[in-house]
Amino acid sequence: MSPRPRFRSSKKHACGRSPRINANRAHLKPWEPLRPRSFYTLQSIQNRLEAMERQMEAESALHLLLFRRDSGQLIGDCNFTNIVRGPFQACHLGFSIARDCEGQGLMRECLATAIEYVFGELGLHRIMANYRPENERSARLLTGLRFEREGIARAYLKLNGAWADHVLTSLINPADC
Ligand SMILES: CC(C)(COP(=O)(O)OP(=O)(O)OC[C@H]1O[C@@H](n2cnc3c(N)ncnc32)[C@H](O)[C@@H]1OP(=O)(O)O)[C@@H](O)C(=O)NCCC(=O)NCCS
Repeated sequence: MSPRPRFRSSKKHACGRSPRINANRAHLKPWEPLRPRSFYTLQSIQNRLEAMERQMEAESALHLLLFRRDSGQLIGDCNFTNIVRGPFQACHLGFSIARDCEGQGLMRECLATAIEYVFGELGLHRIMANYRPENERSARLLTGLRFEREGIARAYLKLNGAWADHVLTSLINPADC
């Protein structure tokens, strides 16, 4: 694994860093559902972390929190959710990084390592990642990781209070091609 990003899945570490989550509210707003004020309370954060742990135990998701090695700051997350087995062997991918950590290649590095794990260790066949057409950073990131564009889904997710079209992309496990 790279010496730069560090993966951890820890309730204790994440809860202690909730001010960081609050600091990025405006940065994430265009790309997320509308959040009630209570979403940012410590209790709500704890509840979500517990839900994540339950999903991981049930093997229906892989939730990864990204911390800087030097300062220990929580800087982002990437989530492989809706893991479906059987003939599909697929999941969805979502990700975000703090505004002051953008443009350094950190998310790309994290995703490259995580994807290797999802394909190599979890044995999944397909990772699906979808983004709003105006989300140029996500487009560049996914193209660089060799995700293939599959089409446009109209009014796909309700983000920031309005239904938003999305570009659909996916990456197939190279071992299955
Ligand atoms: C989407 C998001 C994660 C992309 O983050 P990012 O930092 O742009 O992505 P990367 O880690 O791939 O960084 C790539 C950038 O770092 C630069 N870079 C610097 N050093 C680098 C290195 N060693 N390796 C790779 N890239 C490097 C690249 O040139 C590129 O810069 P550019 O975007 O100005 O061309 C981030 O913008 C974000 O969290 N946005 C808000 C939430 C969001 O949109 N989530 C996704 C919803 S679908």
